[in-house]
Amino acid sequence: MKLQKLAGLMVALALAGCGGEGGSTTASDTSSTTQTNTAVAVAATPTATASPASVAGDPLTGLSDSDLALFNEGKVNFTTNEQDEPGFGPTFNGKSCVECHNGPAIGGGSPISVTRFGQTVHGVFDALSSKGGSLLQTFSINGTAVEVVPPEANVTTRRRTTPLFGAGLIEAIPDADITAFAQQQAAQNPGQAGLVHMVTSPSDGAQHVGRFGWKSQQALLLDFAADAYANEMGISNPLFPIENQPNGPAITIAADQVDDPPNAQGVRDIDRLTNYMRLLAPPPTVVAVQPGQTTFQGIGCAVCHHPSFTTASLTPALNNKTIAAYSDFLLHDVGTGDGIVQGQAPANMLRTAPLMGVGTQAQLLHDASARTVDAAIRAHGGQATASRDAYVQLSTQDRQNLLNFIQTL
Ligand code: HEC
Ligand code: HEC
Repeated sequence: MKLQKLAGLMVALALAGCGGEGGSTTASDTSSTTQTNTAVAVAATPTATASPASVAGDPLTGLSDSDLALFNEGKVNFTTNEQDEPGFGPTFNGKSCVECHNGPAIGGGSPISVTRFGQTVHGVFDALSSKGGSLLQTFSINGTAVEVVPPEANVTTRRRTTPLFGAGLIEAIPDADITAFAQQQAAQNPGQAGLVHMVTSPSDGAQHVGRFGWKSQQALLLDFAADAYANEMGISNPLFPIENQPNGPAITIAADQVDDPPNAQGVRDIDRLTNYMRLLAPPPTVVAVQPGQTTFQGIGCAVCHHPSFTTASLTPALNNKTIAAYSDFLLHDVGTGDGIVQGQAPANMLRTAPLMGVGTQAQLLHDASARTVDAAIRAHGGQATASRDAYVQLSTQDRQNLLNFIQTL
């Protein structure tokens, strides 16, 4: 019966079409180029499942002493309140990384949201960067020159803080594996075909498959750390040599004047933050085969919430591991688009949210609009309409089994 249902669903989805058209982009960065595989040193040994943390917030298991030292050093930076440090601000959203990334443990997510705004005229999105967009900085060090959403903005959205557990393993998924999955998805489920978000890395200038953030807007943790340091905390650094002005264009800082210069060993705070996030273990899982898993596959959730990828990295603890993130890291239109064009990501699309650890998050969806997993699923539309409808039509018992399964991820 499940199989019949699935076959029917596939037909319905194939007829539904891709629906990938978004607002036309005004993005100045990156044009998509041919995919390159950044994979390195794939070990010949069989894949080992990455050991999840026994407690949320733990480092990966099996770290060398030197890697463990890097984790602990970076954690100090991650948890330091930088308010009184030189260079902090003038505008900011938080005084430390942990202020937002803390649930259910250091390195996690939280219901804390940031605001993005922009202006869409005749389908063309303008990030209003000359007015301080698209990211709003809510606070300022002197409390007076506070940024506000300018009157020109006709698009405003909230974005919830995402957890960082297992981020290093996500970073270590080869680009080629995500693009290969995208091709397979488009061939087998054309109605759910997702978009690979190619991004240009500020650190190495190369094109990579984006995977971090609600729009898969960054590919590398170093780039996200540098972005967050500059844009959430006002600490300019070699990758983001900018200082945001309230409702004005960001000022470019000379390379030797940035707030986070390298020390004598060439190490910056953004490198320490990156080490910490890279070595953070995936969240603890309840390992038990649940009947809900079959339903998850059967009603098409796994088409986008792809159960796992295998990593490749020069760091042994990150190499050849299975990371069960339950995401394809592709952009999809599930009817919840936030209206913001970011890089090559269209206004109506978001990254498939990883379901790993989702049971620990108090609020769900990009705008924190869902309080329960059930509500988050029911909010799906667009490319996920058939899957959502199948969920709604499940028997109470099957639905509960599915929800129980999701809680164990
Ligand atoms: C004011 C709250 C806030 C602060 C402070 C903050 N973040 Fe975040 N973080 C967020 C939000 C919100 C997102 C989702 C943003 C998006 O995708 O637009 C996020 C996403 C991320 C991600 C992407 C994770 C993923 O899988 O998508 C990384 C990495 C990250 N933050 C690192 C940091 C680091 C490092 C710091 C400190 C330098 C920091 N953040 C400070 C709110 C915050
Ligand atoms: C076409 C791709 C697609 C399909 C099919 C799909 N999802 Fe999603 N899912 C997404 C995207 C994209 C988001 C992010 C939406 C947002 O935040 O607005 C998401 C978000 C979620 C979330 C919220 C996670 C969080 O951290 O906020 C849950 C829970 C979820 N999906 C479960 C499911 C289940 C269960 C199914 C099957 C009934 C399913 N999804 C089918 C793409 C999909």
